[in-house]
Amino acid sequence: MGNEPGIGEVMITEEQIRVRVNEIAKQISEDYAGEEVVFVGILRGSVVFLSDLIRRVSIDSKIDFMVVSSYGESTKTSGVVKINKDLESSIEDLNVIVVEDIIDTGVTLHYLMDYLKCKKPKSLKVCTFLDKPSRRTADIEADYTGFEVEDKFIVGYGLDFNQKYRNLPYITCLAEA
Ligand code: IMP
Ligand code: MG
Repeated sequence: MGNEPGIGEVMITEEQIRVRVNEIAKQISEDYAGEEVVFVGILRGSVVFLSDLIRRVSIDSKIDFMVVSSYGESTKTSGVVKINKDLESSIEDLNVIVVEDIIDTGVTLHYLMDYLKCKKPKSLKVCTFLDKPSRRTADIEADYTGFEVEDKFIVGYGLDFNQKYRNLPYITCLAEA
């Protein structure tokens, strides 16, 4: 399609993802043994990770979703966070784990954590599939991280570029122009 960038080489394979997601699921299951957790997926990027993760945790769990936007149809963060869809159910007195695809500047998540804290959960943690620490401007860290990635525009395993490439089962990045 026209001048759309293509994709580069595979950065994280399907097998590496499978192994890491299992490890995180095991860790969460240990940390919350005997408890129930609500996984809050941030749409749309987290769906692939969330669906793999919840099938591997052994604790009782519920899922809910939010839609937030801080990005236009480009690869830059605007810094403006808008809640387009809120939670369906109350999280008061519940253990909440926010599930993100990637923490980049951290602006979205920082805003979201403040917002969710006001809903008085019993506990509130963050599980992100990817972390791009080199670009962080907001003071925020994940409690569970799949992989750290360098400063490239990442696609695959739920992450998109203009809604494309979410279906790739591995992680890659946009090819340099
Ligand atoms: P942040 O607010 O800068 O941390 O980024 C928020 C959102 O931007 C993430 O949850 C992603 O949906 C999206 N995003 C950031 N970096 C990338 C990337 O490299 N590829 C695809 N989406 C990204
Ligand atoms: Mg996102």
